[in-house]
Amino acid sequence: MEQPQIVIRDLEVRYGPLHAVRGLSLTVGRGEVFGMLGPNGAGKSSTLACITGLVSPGAGQVTVAGHDVGAAPATVKALLGVQLQRSTLFAELTTLELVGLYAALYDRYPSRGEALALLRRFGLGEKAGVRPRKLSGGQQQRLALALALVNDPQVVLLDEPTSALDPQARRAVWREVRRLRDEGRTVLLTTHHMDEAEELCDRVAIIDEGRLLALGAPAELVARHAPPLSPREAGRRSPNLEDVFLALTGRTLSVTETIADEDAAWLAGAA
Ligand SMILES: Nc1ncnc2c1ncn2[C@@H]1O[C@H](COP(=O)(O)OP(=O)(O)OP(=O)(O)O)[C@@H](O)[C@H]1O
Ligand SMILES: [Mg+2]
Repeated sequence: MEQPQIVIRDLEVRYGPLHAVRGLSLTVGRGEVFGMLGPNGAGKSSTLACITGLVSPGAGQVTVAGHDVGAAPATVKALLGVQLQRSTLFAELTTLELVGLYAALYDRYPSRGEALALLRRFGLGEKAGVRPRKLSGGQQQRLALALALVNDPQVVLLDEPTSALDPQARRAVWREVRRLRDEGRTVLLTTHHMDEAEELCDRVAIIDEGRLLALGAPAELVARHAPPLSPREAGRRSPNLEDVFLALTGRTLSVTETIADEDAAWLAGAA
């Protein structure tokens, strides 16, 4: 790795009795697309929240470009672009006005043309005068991505950037993420999608129950952890990150099989 851009050391997050992140350490290199992969409740969003300073860790340290998040929150904020998992966009503003508002939060005042160009980059040029609630789920997600870039950030945090998107729109987001990297930015994203992690990420951290299970390039993790496929399966597919997760936890990553017992009971109508 060249220069480290994000360093997370021995991170602990507790919400009352719930121990969400348990001694997580990892380093994201400058210019990397880095993926945090893990099931619901693994602690991915909590880790991102510590990088932004939204959540204060119970223990451990996070630095961005060498700046400690706890000690220099304003410096770190200026370096970061953030797409939250659930962004509540102000209902009464148009998408164009939102770009202006978000930019102003960073003390930036783009011209109308610059704001429009940002919307166009995400296929939202025609929606400049529209309020977010009138956008489709996928368009809202793209708007959130655009808003994450208003301050021309060095480091972009994307929490499940493709979760509500159809396959074509997912690929468009992948293209944009690669473009962010080509522009020299560092991207840290979370995902449940194995194929997304394999396709997009230079390196991946597999996280479960607040702990790091494995870290490396997708192909490296597969080579190191995936057990050999049966001859029959080997004829049909190659080993993948799903096999890695299964080998490391005994569980599949697919959402319904890995959610907390309480959630499973609720989904099954038993609660
Ligand atoms: N603000 C909060 N207050 C209390 N508990 C929380 C809070 N945020 C998260 N948690 C709990 O912490 C654990 C980790 O949650 P987190 O959102 O970090 O997981 P995640 O990996 O992002 O999951 P998902 O894939 O569902 O987004 C979960 O058990 C969750 O219920
Ligand atoms: Mg999350």
